[in-house]
Amino acid sequence: MPVFAVVGGQWGDEGKGKVIDLLAGKAQVVVRAQGGDNAGHTIVNSQGKFALHLVPAGIFNPATLCVIGPGVALNPTALVAELDELHARGVQTGNLRISERAHLILPYHMLLDRLEEERRGNGGLGTTGRGVGPSYVDKVSRRGIRAGDLLNRDHFRARVAQAAEHLAPVLGTAGLTLSVDDICDEYLAIADRLRGQIVEVSTSIQEAIDQGQTILIEGAQGSLLDLDHGTYPYVTSSSPTVAGLCLGAGIGPRHLTQALGVFKAYSTRVGTGPMPTESNDAIGTFLREVGHEYGTTTGRPRRCGWFDAVVGRHSAIVNGLDAIVLTRLDILDNLDELKICVAYELDGQRIQHMPASSEDLDRCTPIYETLSGWTRPVAHVREWDQLPNEAQAYVKRLESLMRVPITYIGIGESREDMIVLNAEVA
Ligand code: IMP
Repeated sequence: MPVFAVVGGQWGDEGKGKVIDLLAGKAQVVVRAQGGDNAGHTIVNSQGKFALHLVPAGIFNPATLCVIGPGVALNPTALVAELDELHARGVQTGNLRISERAHLILPYHMLLDRLEEERRGNGGLGTTGRGVGPSYVDKVSRRGIRAGDLLNRDHFRARVAQAAEHLAPVLGTAGLTLSVDDICDEYLAIADRLRGQIVEVSTSIQEAIDQGQTILIEGAQGSLLDLDHGTYPYVTSSSPTVAGLCLGAGIGPRHLTQALGVFKAYSTRVGTGPMPTESNDAIGTFLREVGHEYGTTTGRPRRCGWFDAVVGRHSAIVNGLDAIVLTRLDILDNLDELKICVAYELDGQRIQHMPASSEDLDRCTPIYETLSGWTRPVAHVREWDQLPNEAQAYVKRLESLMRVPITYIGIGESREDMIVLNAEVA
């Protein structure tokens, strides 16, 4: 009964979509566990190129049960827009189920997200503005409204009215008011459409586990954006690490058989917060342009730089990774030399760990090791032995620094552009 969890190893956008799509083809159940429509998975398969924000990647296989799990922050308007887009392109979505426990993102969460960012001014977090943080805040303060609440009209209306009353003073200072009627009209119309799909999901997942089916728990964002283990406070408001995925999917950790971390062959980050290897010179521009490093959800240019193995090791530890998927190796094809950050210098000391304080991390100077580039294309390669020696040396060095085996190497956009090494995934 293989149960896989796939997490982003860095700051998100590692190419999880492709790995998840690859594994989803082998899974009977795919569960999205956390985050909201702040995420963006790009998937390229035989049906075309898709940007998924909420819908699990298993959706392309009509036999796969796809679950939006209890830990997701769900914007139903964004979900139906995504479903409409999929239908328009011939993808059926009848196999989607939504946990009645998933907390909703309501229009006022998006307003609050924007207001809070404005209030932070230059110290803003660079959120995606999708209301994800404020929805999780309501969840923790036990004021949240959940997908299951949509199924009872009176109940839903009462909860929205309570929220409007609670928020009136805050929104009032910004000259904003909420219309309970408008929110109810919009959300209850969507509820009618999703009615058969908002259900209790734990029993179906447990049955799949009991029957030995393959289950994939898909993560969104990346480990360095984790509330507990990331570059706090420059993080998202959920737990995109392996333990968070188990919690958000409602799958007990003892069922997990493999924790896979996806890492890009270099570093990128959107939004603000420390990123020690960020490059504002030629290499940063090279990576952004050759790698088309612009956000899937917001279109923002991503900050780019060399691979940071200190961050990588931290991520391997807090996730307890079994294996690593290294993506986008082909982007590094035309470089004469490559650098890997192997340690930091902070206050004259060499350190091997990632400081918890974002202020300290900001002050860290990367210590680099330089390797030779391979200066020829690798996109056609399917076997490890065909990879140029320099590319092999680069991959092996990353593996030894993170102390986790690299079992897949991505060398192109589509599902097939992957070198598979000793992977246990059947
Ligand atoms: P929020 O999740 O919209 O609250 O944004 C918090 C931080 O997480 C910001 O720096 C965002 O840019 C970042 N973030 C959120 N979702 C993603 C993602 O899917 N990929 C990369 N960064 C993300």
